[in-house]
Amino acid sequence: MNENIFHNKTAVVTGAGGTLCSAIAIELARLGARVALLGRTMEKLETVAARIRAANGIALPLSVDVTDAAAVEAARQRIAQELGPCALLVNGAGGNRNDAVTTTTEFDPAEIGDAKPENMRGFFNLDPDRLLDVIELNTIGTLIPCQVFGREMAHQGRGAIVNFGSMNSYRPLTKNLAYSLAKAGVVNLTQWLAAYLAPAGIRVNAVAPGFFANDRSRKILLTEDGGLTARGQSVMAHTPMKRLGEAQDLLGAVCWLLDDERAAFVTGITVAVDGGFTSSSGV
Ligand SMILES: NC(=O)c1ccc[n+]([C@@H]2O[C@H](COP(=O)([O-])OP(=O)(O)OC[C@H]3O[C@@H](n4cnc5c(N)ncnc54)[C@H](OP(=O)(O)O)[C@@H]3O)[C@@H](O)[C@H]2O)c1
Repeated sequence: MNENIFHNKTAVVTGAGGTLCSAIAIELARLGARVALLGRTMEKLETVAARIRAANGIALPLSVDVTDAAAVEAARQRIAQELGPCALLVNGAGGNRNDAVTTTTEFDPAEIGDAKPENMRGFFNLDPDRLLDVIELNTIGTLIPCQVFGREMAHQGRGAIVNFGSMNSYRPLTKNLAYSLAKAGVVNLTQWLAAYLAPAGIRVNAVAPGFFANDRSRKILLTEDGGLTARGQSVMAHTPMKRLGEAQDLLGAVCWLLDDERAAFVTGITVAVDGGFTSSSGV
């Protein structure tokens, strides 16, 4: 890929302190972009910024909650002043939480019984407020940056946005009700916005990562000695390429979707980067 494709462009990456988007932010800087790093934990963002600066790149870490529209707008103003208006937006902030998943993979009569084990959480025991937290982070936490930075792009008459779906967008995983619902929403939001913003010169696409190891999924999929848990074995059995994704596996798809030359006529799609997971029935 041309080493300078994003030269002189300002990129905003949310969730930039995380496993996948730290690598994406570093790659965008390597390809010439000035990169604003958004997330809540400044320490994680500073670590990524230091890596970008060590390679002579430009990075601006900002502690921002993406579900807080006023905070995102304040960040936009600072980014515009220090790096220039946003041309590229990667909405990586997202994720799941333990208290929003069921502990059961299918209905168990015990979940509605008087003697429900304390640590059991079936569908009927889920707290809607915790589900809302996950839905809000992944959907509204994507929509707000699209509004705030998309408005700035509309003023410039061009821009590219990449959102984060998941294989849960298409095939809900057991236990992950709210996360699947939210990530299906992200694909739908991506399509809606692509159609709406085309006249503004803004392309909106998404990636749908398969199973990548991050701090949370590592605990669920890997044992302490680096082997696979039962769920990890099930994931591997349903992943034709028989491995977990690495952050580097996403870079080509994201950079292509952001590239106004090579993806000039591409908008509204979600690219699966999942080792074949969504294409395989596993049978
Ligand atoms: N890893 C996978 O297997 C996988 C698969 C499919 C899709 N995805 C999606 O890919 C994206 C990146 O995932 P990842 O694996 O890199 O996860 P990660 O390591 O947990 O990174 C997510 C980042 O989002 C930030 N974040 C969370 N809530 C936020 C908020 N309200 N405001 C601002 N930032 C917030 C977190 O930082 P702070 O807590 O410091 O804010 C964290 O650094 C997510 O959307 C995820 O759902 C991941």
